[in-house]
Amino acid sequence: MCGIVGIVGREEVAERLLDGLRRLEYRGYDSAGIATDHGGRIERRRASGKLVNLARELAADPLPGCTGIAHTRWATHGGPTTNNAHPHATDEVAVVHNGIIENFKALRDELIGRGRVFTSETDTEVVAHLVSEKVEAGFDPVGAVREVLPRLHGAFALAILFRKHPDMLIGARLGSPLVVGYGEGETYLGSDALALGPLTQRIAYLDEGDWVVCTEEGAQVYDRDNKPVERAVTISGVTGELVSKGNHRHYMLKEIYEQPIVVAQTLRSYLQRMEERVTLPIPEFDLSAIKRVTIVACGTSFYAGMVAKYWFEQFARVPVDLDVASEFRYRAPVMEPGGLMIVISQSGETADTLAALRHAKAEGQTIAAVVNVPTSSMAREADLLLPTHAGPEIGVASTKAFTCQLAVLAALAANLAHAKGLFKDGEERQIVRHLGEAPAALNAALAYDESIQEMAGAVAGARDVLYLGRGTDYPLALEGALKLKEISYIHAEGYAAGEMKHGPIALIDENVPVIVIAPSGPLFEKTVSNMQEVQARGGKVILISDYDGIQAAGEGCIATITMPKVHPLIAPLVYAVPVQLLAYHVAVAKGTDVDQPRNLAKSVTVE
Ligand code: M6R
Repeated sequence: MCGIVGIVGREEVAERLLDGLRRLEYRGYDSAGIATDHGGRIERRRASGKLVNLARELAADPLPGCTGIAHTRWATHGGPTTNNAHPHATDEVAVVHNGIIENFKALRDELIGRGRVFTSETDTEVVAHLVSEKVEAGFDPVGAVREVLPRLHGAFALAILFRKHPDMLIGARLGSPLVVGYGEGETYLGSDALALGPLTQRIAYLDEGDWVVCTEEGAQVYDRDNKPVERAVTISGVTGELVSKGNHRHYMLKEIYEQPIVVAQTLRSYLQRMEERVTLPIPEFDLSAIKRVTIVACGTSFYAGMVAKYWFEQFARVPVDLDVASEFRYRAPVMEPGGLMIVISQSGETADTLAALRHAKAEGQTIAAVVNVPTSSMAREADLLLPTHAGPEIGVASTKAFTCQLAVLAALAANLAHAKGLFKDGEERQIVRHLGEAPAALNAALAYDESIQEMAGAVAGARDVLYLGRGTDYPLALEGALKLKEISYIHAEGYAAGEMKHGPIALIDENVPVIVIAPSGPLFEKTVSNMQEVQARGGKVILISDYDGIQAAGEGCIATITMPKVHPLIAPLVYAVPVQLLAYHVAVAKGTDVDQPRNLAKSVTVE
């Protein structure tokens, strides 16, 4: 899952390609590179590590040329070295690639057998050699690409530059996204509309199997059968401005602080506050016949789905199957006719979730997509788009997207209950009121930032950390552990509090902080009993609860975090805040790269 950008035009491209890469860094930041076609030669600049290293290279050794391709990488085959950085090139062509060429070993052996010399460990380099061979054999660029594409198995978005044709770029996609941008006397390729924001808003999304020949004058798209086709040009609405950090030190902190506003913004599409009714942005969709719900997502979005399972069962009384997307497709899932599949994704591009969506769609399920990027593949392929209005989320750790997903899922569960006529007198009104209280409660939770920062030291020195919760606090425990792992690199696990005694309690000693998420309410006593079992074995507990909970059970804890007292429906949204802030302050204390933690990427577009 990498980012691609390409420009064919009449003006210098290197700086603009670099700017495009800055917008794509969320797709990976292991290494980056640019190639241009200039003076009858392909020239490259590449650098390992963050984009700033490539910018330095370019400043020291500028790259002229009016046609070029660029890439920011998340390593799949071969380490994040300069040699493995894209573009990969021969004397004739240069290639950038997002995806995985699954049959690359066989192709590489075949090419080596014909005397081709490889300079990287990547799967991508086979594409450069295959196309180059055809060009060397006398094929024109179009013919060469047409010959090579059927040989590639797996997933790819490609942009290819040809030494003898500085007036042309060829792109292709199968499984990985690629868009064409139309400018004045210039044409662009990009992994998404965001990459091309400052260049153009006129965007065509390529279909699966499409390939495209771009020149200064425009683009000719071909489908997988090599037939010329038209793809609709849409106005992306993406502006040229890069999202700034404002006064915050990191994007993650800014995004945590945006939650009251973006949750309110999101709820506006799902609640009729005056009429005290829940609604959907697609009112004509009839939910009453839904008998079974399947929820599929990855990472933090999966934990949002896990919370939602409680709500769908509680309010709408429908059975819910829940799966991580990477497992769903490979376990022959049984889906009832008339079922609803809900995919949840911030990016709308996560490859596993997208594949699950397509699988379920082919099986006749109705697909609802809870996504934050309205132009994404999932948003476009779903039957029912349920947008979150979190705005761009830049920090790799998902924060505001999560609470907005929860807001949408709570409203969807309530809509389903309404459609099924399950609400008794006043119940719907109560749900609308409680959800309406969420933004203010999130604000109140943020007021504890400083005290959370002060106690972060109690966690920062630990090698292992456990998170415990029950009911909807169990997914939050998992989310807390994920947040801590990904940005502070501390090993952390989340457990259902009641499961501790079945094994994990053996891990407890004075060096393992245990973070217990327990708002006062129906499950409080049970969770506190599990917490006391931990304390009885010398475990050091940090309790996150409200004032009543802390009063009742805070004694003997090494620290407590007090949250506002809220209705259980919105507790998962509110308790997400201390969980996020704790991970954030621990990471800052440890000096890690909060917004771009090692080995990760914001959007995971490979399976
Ligand atoms: O874009 P998506 O919501 O589909 O992404 C899913 C996960 O990759 C994502 O939530 C990931 O786990 C985050 N880095 C967690 O903070």
